[in-house]
Parts: sequence; structure tokens; C-alpha cells
Amino acid sequence: MRQNALSGEPLLHTTGLTLKFGGVTAADDIDFELRRGERLAVIGANGAGKTTFINICTGYLKPSSGRIFFGDTDVTGMGPRRIVQLGVGRSFQLPQLFLEHTVQECLQLASAGRQGRLSRFAPLAATADLRAVAAMLELVELEHCAAHPVTVLPEGHRKLLDVAIALMLQPKLVIMDEPTSGVASEDKHSVMGTIMRALQERDVTAWFVEHDVDIVLQYATRVAAWIDGRIAADGAPGDVFADPVIRREVLGER
Ligand SMILES: Nc1ncnc2c1ncn2[C@@H]1O[C@H](COP(=O)(O)OP(=O)(O)O)[C@@H](O)[C@H]1O
Ligand SMILES: [Mg+2]
Repeated sequence: MRQNALSGEPLLHTTGLTLKFGGVTAADDIDFELRRGERLAVIGANGAGKTTFINICTGYLKPSSGRIFFGDTDVTGMGPRRIVQLGVGRSFQLPQLFLEHTVQECLQLASAGRQGRLSRFAPLAATADLRAVAAMLELVELEHCAAHPVTVLPEGHRKLLDVAIALMLQPKLVIMDEPTSGVASEDKHSVMGTIMRALQERDVTAWFVEHDVDIVLQYATRVAAWIDGRIAADGAPGDVFADPVIRREVLGER
């Protein structure tokens, strides 16, 4: 990540964040802090609570107890729309895209939405910032399929578009839940490379869930490992991957 005067300042933190689903404690008293400029990879087995924690931090789920702060602002209890407006973008394991729209139209919708100019009565191209849309298409290397409907895009392109839509809202942080899942293995590195370059270019802090150790090692500056609703290890990638508990419980080594 490009260094600037704000690198390293606290961006998001949680205290005692807890959420129970019946008998399952999906988030168990989590104290967590993310600093500006970090590239955080989250690892952990299925069901460990990675998505639940993201859903709480982005306003999709309310915690049973604990608090979430974005900068100095207490965002606990705020809904997703307000949290997005504060600068927390998100992409999804299964991108939430308008399938019948083209790539260009999806970005125009995001642009018009950002400016509060979405209208049923005005053409989309008149309400969107077309220069910002063109710049985004170039940034995420989707110019060649700008006119393609989302339905025909391979999964890797859908993931890029999902991140591009999040970036249209000019966030400080983008949280990505498994940005390479479902992407053909030969395309994973190029998709991740394009995403991380785009975030770096826009000075956006990255938090991503990823199962592929090679990708984590290539792109993360920090790794947090989830086990049973808790952060079991958090630190430099080399240290977390050397931890015997993580090797056994998360990486499945015997
Ligand atoms: N909406 C829900 N209702 C009930 N249980 C849930 C819900 N979402 C997640 N869980 C449970 O919470 C735990 C953590 O799930 P999740 O956060 O999706 O894990 P991960 O993303 O690490 O695979 C799992 O035991 C899962 O079954
Ligand atoms: Mg998940």
C-alpha cells in the first residue's frame, strides 16, 4: 500500500463483539483493530465466523453485545447504508449484481447512487459521472467487456465488477468475502492482482477472506486466523502460518 501521512492510523475497531445464533457463538468477545494501509487476510475453516464478523462490522447483523467503531464514530446498530456512507465498502462471496445490466450500467448505477441522483425519470447516462465510470473500467481492467451483460461474465470478472462497484463509492476500506472463490484456479492470481492494485491506487485499505495460502502470502501484510468465533492468531503472515495451532486447526496439518 502506498504510504501516506494517514497510514497506520486506526480505521476500524471492535470491543467485546459477540453474537450468538441459538447455541452457536459465531462471534465470541472479539477485540479487533484495523489500521489504515493494512492488507488483512482472514483465514479459518468453514463455519469459523469470518462472514459473521464481516456482517456485524458492515451493519448486516446486530451484535448481541460489544461495540464497533469506524474511526472515532460508534457505528454499532447502524444499518449497511449508513456504514457504506462512512467509507466501508464491501464485496460478496456471491456478487450481488444486477444480472440483466451491462458492466458499464452497473458502474453507472453505483455512480448515480453515490451522488444521490438515481431517478426513475432521468436516463442513467445523464445522472452518472461517466468519466469516473470510464476511469473505474480502466482501473479494474474491464473496458473490453463494458458492454457485456453481467450474465455472460466469467466469475473472475464478476468479482472484479463487485469490487469496482464498492470502489465507486470512494471508500476508505473495502472488505471482501472470498474474492477468489468460484474463480478458475488459473485466474485467481490475476483477479487478486488486479483487485489489490486497484485498491492500492485509490489508497484503500484491504480486508479479505481467503483460503489459498499462496494468495495470502503474496498479498497480505497481516493475517488473522478465526477458530470457533474467535481470533486465534493475528500478526505477520509468516508468524501466523508458523503457529502450530493454526497449522493443525486451520490448515489441517497432522
Ligand atoms: N443467519 C444465521 N443463523 C444461524 N446460524 C448462523 C447464521 N449465519 C451463520 N451462522 C452460524 O454461525 C457460524 C459461523 O458462520 P460463518 O460466519 O458463515 O462462518 P465462515 O464465514 O467462517 O464460514 C456457523 O456455525 C454458522 O452455521
Ligand atoms: Mg463465510
